[in-house]
Amino acid sequence: MNEVMNTLLSHRSIRKYEERPVEEEILDQIVRAAQAAPNWVNLQHVSIIAIKDKSRREKFSELCGGQKHIAQAPIFLIFCADFYRTWIACQQKGQAFEDTVGQIDNLIVGANEVGIALATAVAAAESFGLGTVPIGDIRLHALEAVRELNLPKYVIPLLGLCVGYPAENPGIKPRFPKEAVYFEEQYRQNVEALIAEYDEIYAHYLKERPWNNRVGNQCH
Ligand SMILES: Cc1cc2nc3c(=O)[nH]c(=O)nc-3n(C[C@H](O)[C@H](O)[C@H](O)COP(=O)(O)O)c2cc1C
Repeated sequence: MNEVMNTLLSHRSIRKYEERPVEEEILDQIVRAAQAAPNWVNLQHVSIIAIKDKSRREKFSELCGGQKHIAQAPIFLIFCADFYRTWIACQQKGQAFEDTVGQIDNLIVGANEVGIALATAVAAAESFGLGTVPIGDIRLHALEAVRELNLPKYVIPLLGLCVGYPAENPGIKPRFPKEAVYFEEQYRQNVEALIAEYDEIYAHYLKERPWNNRVGNQCH
């Protein structure tokens, strides 16, 4: 086991944070790590907006269904799928923008890239002893977020990420057994027993930590 693996396998989302601010140099490293992640044809279709102002974090907390951790964490990063820079480049080079990114497939590209960038940011943040939790609700209120962030056209806010020093130790949430999610050569459909086995483990975990789950049941 190396240090990267230690960090990755110790992941757990954090929903309670210390007031202690996150050092600027560390935030800089997190953003650099996210930028270094793989991306489609190196067109780099992700932008990140940091919300540090407390009253604005409170606003996003309300916007995302009153999730208190957004107001509590000193930094709320918003990851956007961003085709605005591509639009500018197309304008400059006289290339047709629609031909380059006009297809619906690009929404999938943007979502993939935001996911990869966010996961990389999570790993980077955790390597510094920080805690994080992704916030999917931001996309459900995308229009309000667009206004609040002053986003130009072709930029879509898809995911948020709370970042701060953890004020809780919720433990590692159990995952499916590897045999239920990893196959060689062909998909294996008869995973019922593995799911049932996992349900028991997860139910036990939730019973012991009812506060540590926003949804309460893996089926929802
Ligand atoms: C795309 C995405 C959206 C999420 N949205 C939220 C959210 O809005 N609020 C929240 O508390 N957790 C959110 N989470 C965190 C998940 O609930 C959490 O990662 C999952 O339950 C596994 O727990 P763990 O991260 O502690 O291992 C989100 C995670 C992902 C990947």
